[in-house]
Amino acid sequence: MAAHFSSGRRRMVMMLLCFIALIPLSYAGGMRISRHKLEVQKHLKRFNKPAVKSIKSPDGDVIDCVHVSHQPAFDHPFLKNHTIQMRPNFHPEGLFDESKVSSKPKEGSNSITQLWHLNGRCPEGTIPIRRTKRDDVLRASSVKRYGRKKHRTIAKPRSTDPDLINESGHQHAIAYVEGDKYYGAKATINVWEPKIQQPNEFSLSQLWILGGSFGEDLNSIEAGWQVSPDLYGDNNTRLFTYWTSDAYQATGCYNLLCSGFIQINSQIAMGASIFPVSGYRGSQYDISILVWKDPKEGHWWMQFGNDYVLGYWPSFLFSYLADSASMIEWGGEVVNSETDGEHTSTQMGSGHFPEEGFSKASYFRNIQVVDGSNNLRAPKGVGTFTEQSNCYDVQNGNNGDWGHYFYYGGPGKTHNCP
Ligand SMILES: *[C@@H]1O[C@H](CO)[C@@H](O)[C@H](O)[C@H]1NC(C)=O
Ligand SMILES: *[C@@H]1O[C@H](CO)[C@@H](O)[C@H](O)[C@H]1NC(C)=O
Ligand SMILES: *[C@@H]1O[C@H](CO)[C@@H](O)[C@H](O)[C@H]1NC(C)=O
Repeated sequence: MAAHFSSGRRRMVMMLLCFIALIPLSYAGGMRISRHKLEVQKHLKRFNKPAVKSIKSPDGDVIDCVHVSHQPAFDHPFLKNHTIQMRPNFHPEGLFDESKVSSKPKEGSNSITQLWHLNGRCPEGTIPIRRTKRDDVLRASSVKRYGRKKHRTIAKPRSTDPDLINESGHQHAIAYVEGDKYYGAKATINVWEPKIQQPNEFSLSQLWILGGSFGEDLNSIEAGWQVSPDLYGDNNTRLFTYWTSDAYQATGCYNLLCSGFIQINSQIAMGASIFPVSGYRGSQYDISILVWKDPKEGHWWMQFGNDYVLGYWPSFLFSYLADSASMIEWGGEVVNSETDGEHTSTQMGSGHFPEEGFSKASYFRNIQVVDGSNNLRAPKGVGTFTEQSNCYDVQNGNNGDWGHYFYYGGPGKTHNCP
């Protein structure tokens, strides 16, 4: 009886010890979880500004119409006293200004819009911002990395260092110019919905305005379309921008996910789905993107299509680009995560090679640069570059309607690209 009692007591003591050991553990775990929760909440509050009106898009996005003076840019300490410029002082003039040309290029160019427009528009004096959801933030490797690129991903044509070229699995098929001072760039790009094999991969088509060397202080302004399951949680094709002034380290982000870009336009939401997209042997839909430097204030402006001036990156965000760009790139980029030692089947562009041509391959047409006199010009000495032409390729050309153009892209993994 005594022995039984004492073994029961021993058990109780053991259980108590376990309890004592368990309580602080689970308590600390709870703290950790709620701290993370709080951090996510804090970030969501920072991204999502109070809305005048919210519009639910058919793709599941919520578009918040935020008063123009409450946008994320004004969280930046340098922008506290900034007076918003509601229009650029200058607009580059040039040879392929479609708003002034009565006959449109005979191929391509159907009108394109954003999916959320089907359910409403934002009032004047507000800007549409894609609402960041808890899941968007939770998909990021860390709350702090959300909205930022993970690696330096600029294609470096003619590099002699193969490790630099094939860096972190990023693959490109691009056209580029360098060796001059550039004050902007333009292109018309047809829009596709490339298939992505792994959620941590992406496929995009964009232009890059680059300043400085390819070192730690690289300046870059980027705009185009992308499919990025990690960033957006789906496979839709979205309009995006990016900027950095230190080679993707501490500064910059996608869209309006940090303070920097000042948006003035009430109709186009960065990060929102583009609709419709081009079909293989079907209708072709393309978007025009123009980025140029205002010679008076020095800001870098962005225009989407012929009608939408989206806003600007203030000059002070940058070092080299505060003066001018030293290189322009146009083209596609994918991440090849090489699962099981095989090339990814993530597509670039339409997922078809350039040889297939119009309505099958993806294109950039009427590529232009802005010169020191604020004129749009045909680029001189256009080079092309791709890491593995057997996976993704690029072919350039020149004609009357399309000016300088190129077809680019590919399927990724095939028997020629194992
Ligand atoms: C903004 O203006 C206030 C008042 O004029 C001034 O004290 C402050 O230094 C300014 N801030 C910046 C970042 O220019
Ligand atoms: C990049 O890597 C691939 C596969 O390892 C290789 O075939 C290709 O030649 C490399 N490209 C360059 C430019 O080094
Ligand atoms: C995106 O596409 C991949 C295959 O290409 C598919 O496995 C995945 O479920 C899709 N994701 C969503 C959110 O639809």
